[in-house]
Amino acid sequence: MPFPTPPPILTGMNGLQFRKSVQAIKPYVPGKSIEEVARELGVNDIIKMASNENPFGCPVTAEQLAPHIQRGSYYPNVATTPLYEKVAELHGVSEKQLVFGNGSDEILMMLGQVFLSSDTHAIFSQHTFSEYEFVCRVMGASFTSVPTRDYTYDLQAILYAIREETRVIFLANPNNPTGLLISRQTLDAFLSVVPDWVAVVLDEAYAEFVTSPDFASGISLLDKYPNVIVTRTFSKLYGLAAFRIGYAVTAEETVTQLHKVRQPFNVNQIAAMAAVHALDNAAFIQRTLENNEMGKRYLYSILEKLGLEYIPTEANFICVQLPFSGKLAFENLLKLGIIVRNLASFELPNAIRITIGLTAQNERLGTALKSLLSRG
Ligand SMILES: Cc1ncc(COP(=O)(O)O)c(C=O)c1O
Repeated sequence: MPFPTPPPILTGMNGLQFRKSVQAIKPYVPGKSIEEVARELGVNDIIKMASNENPFGCPVTAEQLAPHIQRGSYYPNVATTPLYEKVAELHGVSEKQLVFGNGSDEILMMLGQVFLSSDTHAIFSQHTFSEYEFVCRVMGASFTSVPTRDYTYDLQAILYAIREETRVIFLANPNNPTGLLISRQTLDAFLSVVPDWVAVVLDEAYAEFVTSPDFASGISLLDKYPNVIVTRTFSKLYGLAAFRIGYAVTAEETVTQLHKVRQPFNVNQIAAMAAVHALDNAAFIQRTLENNEMGKRYLYSILEKLGLEYIPTEANFICVQLPFSGKLAFENLLKLGIIVRNLASFELPNAIRITIGLTAQNERLGTALKSLLSRG
């Protein structure tokens, strides 16, 4: 019996039936790595100020991880590590309110899996982290990207975008790539009017860097708003981006659903133990935060001297406006051995994002920017 022929619109190039929403996804292009640039330019002295990684590197030693590498033939079991206990204590929540992921990226995808499908809708803002749109597309959900006002979230417009099918609102706080914050009061006022059947994901990947007294982590609002889901990461402050570990803090009922879609061995034992050691390394955490403040002030002063506009940041990066394209700046800084993030894909074509680095790195960037501007 002949099989029915599928409608051609659903057919991929090789005749297979890829989902339409997947075909529409533009593959994620990560920032260039130091190794890649070194190979392309044939130089060694390269600094990466592009992906908001910790400029001090990794706080965990090979020695600390050696026993866990030796046990690498066994499947991991994060529950046997002190990680749940430590993170629960850190935030003053119950262990049942936590779920860990292979980076907070995986948590965001798990949230998509529990909330989104082709008949549902999600909301996020313009000029924000690309993962939210990616999750919606993978899940085949429709979405609204709400325009910002002067780069700031337009929370009123986000509320207006809520409809019957809306299941999730994604908000990075502070936002990437602007470094802007939703203040405690504004967040509380917003959450008080979001319907309780809409999940509000507060992506707090950079929360530890916030210095503004106006900030309230969503974690402190969980009792009042059980529809809030906070995501956090070990990739930034804790210097463990390569290990891939992040987590959600939310209501127990939501955690139960997230565990259902979680791959059984999604977080490996080495990453979990690295996270435990990183949490214990108070000196590294303090050094990172102090350096971030110092670097921020230094870069602000350089940018001001150069007459460049920037958005004051609450994170470990600065969004800088340029009199030319971010692509041009990216390419020219690359030639000088400095990798920054061109923000064209964030709909900010004349901007770059600079991760705050170590003193010498910030100085080198300052000199490079100066020579770039003097060339006109
Ligand atoms: C706002 C935001 N959320 C989440 C992530 C992902 O972090 P992770 O390394 O935990 O997947 C990033 C990474 O850059 C980010 O900027």
